[in-house]
Amino acid sequence: MKEESQKLIRSFGRIKSRKLSEHKKSLLENPLKHYSLEFPLLKNQQPAILEIGFGFGDFIFEKAKKNPEKNFFGCEPHLNGVVNLLSKLEIEPLKNIQISLKDSRLLLEEFPEKFFDEIYILFPDPWPKTKHFKRRLLTRKFFDKILSPKIKTGGKLVIATDHDSYKTWILAEFLRSEKFSWDAKSKKDWQIFPKDWVKTKYQKKAEIESRLPIIFNLTHHD
Ligand SMILES: C[S@@+](CC[C@H](N)C(=O)[O-])C[C@H]1O[C@@H](n2cnc3c(N)ncnc32)[C@H](O)[C@@H]1O
Repeated sequence: MKEESQKLIRSFGRIKSRKLSEHKKSLLENPLKHYSLEFPLLKNQQPAILEIGFGFGDFIFEKAKKNPEKNFFGCEPHLNGVVNLLSKLEIEPLKNIQISLKDSRLLLEEFPEKFFDEIYILFPDPWPKTKHFKRRLLTRKFFDKILSPKIKTGGKLVIATDHDSYKTWILAEFLRSEKFSWDAKSKKDWQIFPKDWVKTKYQKKAEIESRLPIIFNLTHHD
C-alpha cells in the first residue's frame, strides 16, 4: 500500500492560496494540535462521520455543532481552508471534531476497517480538462479499494457536485462499483438535498452561477 501511496496523482489544487496573517499561522500550531486526529480515534461509541475535502469547513462545523454526540473527522490539504475551520472553532470550540491536512487516500490507510458510518465528499475538484481527468479523485478504484474497506456494511456515502461532466463521470464510476449501490428511486432523490443540509461555499457559488447541484446517496455493502 505504501508503494501505491507514493504513486498518487495529485487530486487537489493549491495548498496555500492567500497569505496567512500571523494570527492565522498561529492557529495552525496550538489549535490544530488540539483538533488533529489522534489515535485511538473514537471518543464514544456513537457514529463516526468523515468529510473528505471539507474546503472552508462550513459543513463539518455545522454538522458537528448540531450533533454533539457524533464523532466527526475531516481532511483537507488546502491550508487556508483548514485555517478557516480553525477560526470558527476558536470562536465556538467543539469537542467532536478531529481534522487532518493529509490527502484522504493516505489518511484512510490509518483508520481501522469498517470504521465509518457516513462519508461525505462535497463538490470534489472537477478537473474539467481532458488532460486532467487523471486527477479526478472519484474513480471506481477509489470507491472499491480506498473507501469500501473503511466504511461499515450499510454505511452511507454521500457525494454532491454541480459539474456536468463530473456528474456523468461519478455516476459511471459508482455504477461499476462492486461495493456501493445507488439509493435513488426517482429524480427528486438526486435533485433535492435533505432538510438539515448545510450548504458549502462551492454549493452557494454554484447556485449563484445557476449551476444545478445534485446529490448521490450510496449504500455500502460487502
Ligand atoms: C472544489 S473544493 C470543495 C470544497 C468544499 N467541499 C465545498 O463544497 O465548498 C474540493 C476540495 O477537495 C480537496 N481535495 C482534493 N483532493 C483531495 C484529497 N485527495 N483528499 C482530501 N481532500 C482533497 C481540495 O483541496 C479542495 O479543497
